Amino acid sequence: EFSWKLADHPKLPKGKTIAVVVLDGWGEATPDDFNCIHKADTPTMDSLKQGAPERWRLIKAHGTAVGLPTEDDMGNSEVGHNALGAGRIYAQGAKLVDLALASGKIYEGEGFKYIQQSFQNGTLHLIGLLSDGGVHSRLDQLQLLLKGCADHGAKRIRVHILTDGRDVLDGSSVGFVETLENDLAKLRERGIDAQIASGGGRMYVTMDRYENDWEVVKRGWDAQVLGEAPHKFTSALEAVKKLRAEPKSNDQYLPPFVIVDENGKPVGPVVDGDAVVTINFRADRMVMLAKALEYEDFDKFDRVRFPKIHYAGMLQYDGELKLPSHYLVSPPEIDRTSGEYLVHNGIRTFACSETVKFGHVTFFWNGNRSGYFNPEKEEYVEIPSDIGITFNVKPKMKAIEIAEKAKDAILSGKFHQVRVNLPNGDMVGHTGDIEATVVACKAADEAVKIIIDAIEQAGGVYVITADHGNAEDMVKRDKKGKPLLDKNGKIQILTSHTLQPVPIAIGGPGLAPGVRFRKDLSTPGLANVAATVMNLHGFEAPSDYEPTLIEVLDV
Ligand code: 3PG
Ligand code: CO
Repeated sequence: EFSWKLADHPKLPKGKTIAVVVLDGWGEATPDDFNCIHKADTPTMDSLKQGAPERWRLIKAHGTAVGLPTEDDMGNSEVGHNALGAGRIYAQGAKLVDLALASGKIYEGEGFKYIQQSFQNGTLHLIGLLSDGGVHSRLDQLQLLLKGCADHGAKRIRVHILTDGRDVLDGSSVGFVETLENDLAKLRERGIDAQIASGGGRMYVTMDRYENDWEVVKRGWDAQVLGEAPHKFTSALEAVKKLRAEPKSNDQYLPPFVIVDENGKPVGPVVDGDAVVTINFRADRMVMLAKALEYEDFDKFDRVRFPKIHYAGMLQYDGELKLPSHYLVSPPEIDRTSGEYLVHNGIRTFACSETVKFGHVTFFWNGNRSGYFNPEKEEYVEIPSDIGITFNVKPKMKAIEIAEKAKDAILSGKFHQVRVNLPNGDMVGHTGDIEATVVACKAADEAVKIIIDAIEQAGGVYVITADHGNAEDMVKRDKKGKPLLDKNGKIQILTSHTLQPVPIAIGGPGLAPGVRFRKDLSTPGLANVAATVMNLHGFEAPSDYEPTLIEVLDV
């Protein structure tokens, strides 16, 4: 019979304050000029690495270790925080969609049948991120879905693209649009009226997250649903090329555009009777649009028109809100997360980050579940992020504010677990600005110091780790690791995450003297952290959790 009660750890005491720090986008890589963590002044993280070898190690943060389809898949915050919080490895959205497409099961599900009702008399709209990044979506999945929808009766299809440049190289949008245009041309040869209807850069159009800035979603709504945008083109390829040629322009921040016919009329607004699919499998940057598409009552911006449509997500993005209510593929069922166990075992938790990563240490950590398990035992604090800027402009972000909140929570004595995400390495790393990323890494390191100092004062324990790599490698490399140059002889900046492992360090005055990292685990990963943290709280982890990273020697 199932019970939430965790067994006592035979050797480790209860009642310690544990700080769990996730450095977002902080991997381990060979030191060179494109390793911003190496370039930055990071005395705190350096001292952990140079400290006791049995209390610092590397763990895997990409590929199958975090439930992604292949070892070529870089890590990301969703799968990283899921693994950290849930202590087990789940086949993630990317993989589940692959399987559903390969088996054809996607076309037999309730979600597909629901959108199919619009195929006879309406238009099918596909909205989402156009790249092969594999973090939020994948081009090959879109290609298969387009073909599958056509095979299953869609007669009129409109694609609303969001250009990437964040999970893939900047400038790659052009090639992805060409590939998509080829596919759409093939559909047109089959008599299907298929074309791109609108577009924009993911960070400026549609893909905001955690309700940081609804204007981003509104810009997308205007283009996708209303067919209105400041830029009008008759071809998406021309749109992307021309808009990219503007000064300071890049894929992530392309302004919204609509495709118009020869009379200047938008080719694909969303109207009553249409079907819409948001093709991203990852939730955080689609759930705001999902609310706008699904909720009758909605006051975040003026939708002007709220068409009666059949809307489905590629996945259900929020299991608690049941949003969207229709979806093509069932999301991973991440249950019994460490957070839920710990509240049932009397652990009081404080979690904090700034807006752009707030859901990472709460929603993703808790298995894609919004809200508290038990508001009496948990407190989640969100520090508002700066809006309307790219973070290379303010690379320190709110790192110190987050650390100060954590410090107060640690010293208050009210919490057993104080968990934060420090966004700098990742958010600034994604801008591709090397100098700013160096500043970002230094700020994150200073924040770690504040938290460790508080733990020293409180007699607690710290666990410092990361969710995936980013800032440690800012250049695209060949197979031998040599930086690659573009046609103009300039190095190709890597804005994306990496395949690198991440560090984990444990310590603090509350750590029992015999605790050390085990040597018998061959290639542990992020999913091994949950059991480790449970042990440090004085509990054994559930038997189906990935094994703990630590052992306790008698000293
Ligand atoms: C983003 O959404 O910002 C990137 O695609 C992935 O970054 P994250 O996984 O670190 O959030
Ligand atoms: Co990132």
